[in-house]
Formats: sequence, structure tokens, C-alpha cells
Amino acid sequence: MEKIIFIGICGASGVIYGIKLLKYLRSLNIKTVLSLSNNAKSIIEIETPFSVEELKNTASLYYENDDFFSPFASGSVIFDSAVIVPCSMKTIGSIASGIYSNLITRVAHISLKEGRKLILVPRETPYSLIDLKNLVILKESGACILPASPGFYGQPKTIDDIVNFIVGKILDQLGIENDLIKRWYESKIRNSQIKDL
Ligand SMILES: Cc1cc2nc3c(=O)[nH]c(=O)nc-3n(C[C@H](O)[C@H](O)[C@H](O)COP(=O)(O)O)c2cc1C
Repeated sequence: MEKIIFIGICGASGVIYGIKLLKYLRSLNIKTVLSLSNNAKSIIEIETPFSVEELKNTASLYYENDDFFSPFASGSVIFDSAVIVPCSMKTIGSIASGIYSNLITRVAHISLKEGRKLILVPRETPYSLIDLKNLVILKESGACILPASPGFYGQPKTIDDIVNFIVGKILDQLGIENDLIKRWYESKIRNSQIKDL
């Protein structure tokens, strides 16, 4: 069966992670279903050069976040994995407490109840105790918690390099081969240490 990946972009800083994931999957001709929360739409305008319309057209399918008549609001419609990137603490809290009041949280609910892969990319700092407890609940419920915490051992030169690190980690979790991450064995730091041995 063809791979279908749901991408939810929430109103947290770092919407570029979701956008880059969408564009990378498009470049591989992998089917994507996209939904943007209202705050995500505003933050896309503030933080990136992309327009909401362009992103809607990049996805294979787009549904508004209040569209419970979307086929993906039903567990009977199969998708492989769902990625919420970035994921606000409000959306983390909603999923953790079983409040599925929009399409993104409903798809998260379906992923957990149907045993499909759910990758959550929280973006907040510092975390409150409530945030941390909610993240534990979600991890215990089967979600993959993949914080937007890029590594620097690949010696990134550009913002793109930093963004690619997180997108590459998401693709690794989705089981999609990618060359976005400079792996530790390719790192100059490690190679120079090996030379010193
Ligand atoms: C410019 C801007 C940046 C924000 N950044 C974050 C953030 O990084 N993390 C977060 O949890 N909330 C952030 N928020 C607050 C969320 O947008 C807000 O809690 C909203 O209710 C989230 O709803 P959503 O998950 O449905 O998009 C930000 C809001 C604005 C306006």
C-alpha cells in the first residue's frame, strides 16, 4: 500500500521544521495530508518566506483544522504515520488529556488508538511541570517524543543545516532513508579524535 503521512503544523515557533518535512516528502513523491492550525498560519507568515497557499498546494491533500468531515477524522481511513511538527504545549496538553477538538488532535487520537506511529515535535523552553507530565503520558501511550533539539556535532553552518537535523531525525523515525543528517561517524570532531588516537 502507498505510504500516506499526515502532517499537522501547530502554532509554535519552528513551523519551518514542518514545512521542510512536507517539502522533503514531496520531493520523494510520498503522499502527505496537511493541516495547519490557525496560529500556525500566522506564525508561517511571521517566521518564514512561505505562504499558506503554497503549502496547501505542496501537500497531496489539505484539510482545515476544524474539518471533522475530513476522511482522516475517521479511524477507518488508513494513513501510515502522523507527525505534529512543531507541536504547541496546548496541543500536547489536549492530546494527553483526551480533548480532540480539532483535526490535528483527532488524528493524534486515531494514531494512538489504532496503534499507528505518532511523532510529536514539542517546541517550548523551559517546560512547565504540566508540560513534562503531559509528555510522559504521551510517551507511555505510544507516541514518539522528538523535541526540536538539534545536535551541533555535525558543525552546522546555516539555519537550513540545523532544521535539516530535526527533519532528518523525523524521517529516521518514519523509516525513510535520508541524507539530511550528518551522522556522528561522518563528523569532523570524531574523525579528528580518531586521528589523535
Ligand atoms: C508568535 C507565536 C509563537 C508561539 N510559540 C509557541 C511555542 O513555541 N510553543 C508553544 O507551545 N506555544 C507557542 N505559542 C502559543 C500557541 O500558538 C498557543 O498556545 C495556541 O493556542 C496553540 O494552538 P495550536 O496548537 O492549535 O496551534 C506561540 C504563539 C505565537 C503567537
